[in-house]
Amino acid sequence: MTSGKNGDVDMDLGNNERRMLRAMLSDPSREWTLGQLLSETGWEDQVHVAGAGKKLEEEGLLELSESSSRMVSLGDEGQRASENGLLESRLWGWMSELDGEKRTMKSLMSSDFDRAETGPGIGILKGLGIDIESGSFIISDESKISQEIDRRSEFILSLSEGAVESSNLDSEMLSHFSSRSGLLIFEDVTIRTWKLTKSGSSFDPSSLEETKLIGEVTPEMLQTESWIGAEFKPFDVEAPAPMPTGGRRHPMQSLIERIRSVFLEMGFSEIEGDYVQSAGWNMDSLFIPQSHPARTMQDTFYLNQPRNVEVDEEYLDLWARVHEHGHDTGSKGWGGSFDKEESQRALLRTHTTVNTVRHIADNPHTPSRVFGIGRVFRQETIDRTHMPEFHQIEGIIHEPDASLPMLISTLKTFYSKMGYPDVRVRPAYFPYTEPSAEVDILWKGEWLELGGSGIFRPEVTEPLGTEWPVCAWGMGLERLAMLVLGLDDIRQLYQPDLERLRKMPLL
Ligand code: PHE
Repeated sequence: MTSGKNGDVDMDLGNNERRMLRAMLSDPSREWTLGQLLSETGWEDQVHVAGAGKKLEEEGLLELSESSSRMVSLGDEGQRASENGLLESRLWGWMSELDGEKRTMKSLMSSDFDRAETGPGIGILKGLGIDIESGSFIISDESKISQEIDRRSEFILSLSEGAVESSNLDSEMLSHFSSRSGLLIFEDVTIRTWKLTKSGSSFDPSSLEETKLIGEVTPEMLQTESWIGAEFKPFDVEAPAPMPTGGRRHPMQSLIERIRSVFLEMGFSEIEGDYVQSAGWNMDSLFIPQSHPARTMQDTFYLNQPRNVEVDEEYLDLWARVHEHGHDTGSKGWGGSFDKEESQRALLRTHTTVNTVRHIADNPHTPSRVFGIGRVFRQETIDRTHMPEFHQIEGIIHEPDASLPMLISTLKTFYSKMGYPDVRVRPAYFPYTEPSAEVDILWKGEWLELGGSGIFRPEVTEPLGTEWPVCAWGMGLERLAMLVLGLDDIRQLYQPDLERLRKMPLL
């Protein structure tokens, strides 16, 4: 920190201001031009002069004056004239070497002068007062012409060293040459000069030592003592900076990746399945009665192509028995008669539970903990919370000791790893589980329902060929995504709005 020595002003000058002020104090009464300041300060970039000058001006230490002026320099033609002489001067030279009667148009045409020069040349000679009579040049006042040519030549030569401000030039010559093409170039420039004010010139240069400013603290620096007593460059954290916009994963994709890694970490393996399934695997295997309202065309997308998906006769028989009278499961079944045709109707899966059930059927005697994250389809009217396509996070624990407490603790572990440690279950009903539980998580003081779970009923497990209990759950991915991303409309997840997607949190 430096205090002004001029008594009433107490200011804080940076290194650039100190350097510029010191430079100007070497000649306190001078009006400094940019070039002079650059050489006195040793700066290469005029930005420093402009910046430090502005600050010093604000502090009342210097005055900046700006004036605009018109600079004149030689154009291509002018450059040539300064080297080889003006056209009129060369013509005049040619003419003075000839006897009076030989000064004719004809001899001019056969001279060394270029075609492109003779035409304009004659015009210029006329302008100088030389007449042409019957093809001969008539010179009346030789000395006047000669004087005028010298004056023009001098003017051109005076510009050969570089641009000159127009007010320092002969205005008659200026207007003459500006009507001739290619001789002169005009440029308007602003000229700035810096001059110390009274309080600026009263500064003591020895108080303007530059301090070492540290812009970046490095580990190396901290190992030495060089930072002790040093001044740190202030950072303006509010300064506007460009927003980096690189590519990134879609937030849904990131969330799926995170869920995947949480389940893998918990010892689960991932399974997948097809979108197109038979009603049998999607519903009958789960003991959903064939008359269940959720199976109607209003809720499920049935397909025309393929219209049917073949199902093993073995399963059709088993489901028929279970549905009609309970088979060996101890259940009475739903009664009525089971429709095997209906069981083979093709549909878009309405939940991913079809994947876990099929996994058990394929591996009835192998204990397993599997999960899947997949798309499901239901005939929903699109609104803030519904879409006809969405995702479920499905899973099962299929092993001899599977139990309700194991199910609940698994879901609690999963959600706390996702960042939601408060999980509760409430009794619920699904045709395929007993007991059944709704899973809620606590978010901003409210319990939000995220999915269903339970232990598969014997009506489900027996036809699959397993003797072990199965903990099962199926949860909404979009609900979770909305929580994690802070959205209140499910559609925002899938709109290709780059602006919004860029701003969504990284998961
Ligand atoms: N399949 C149920 C649904 O779509 C969720 C569920 C899965 C419920 C497994 C119980 C057991 O909502």
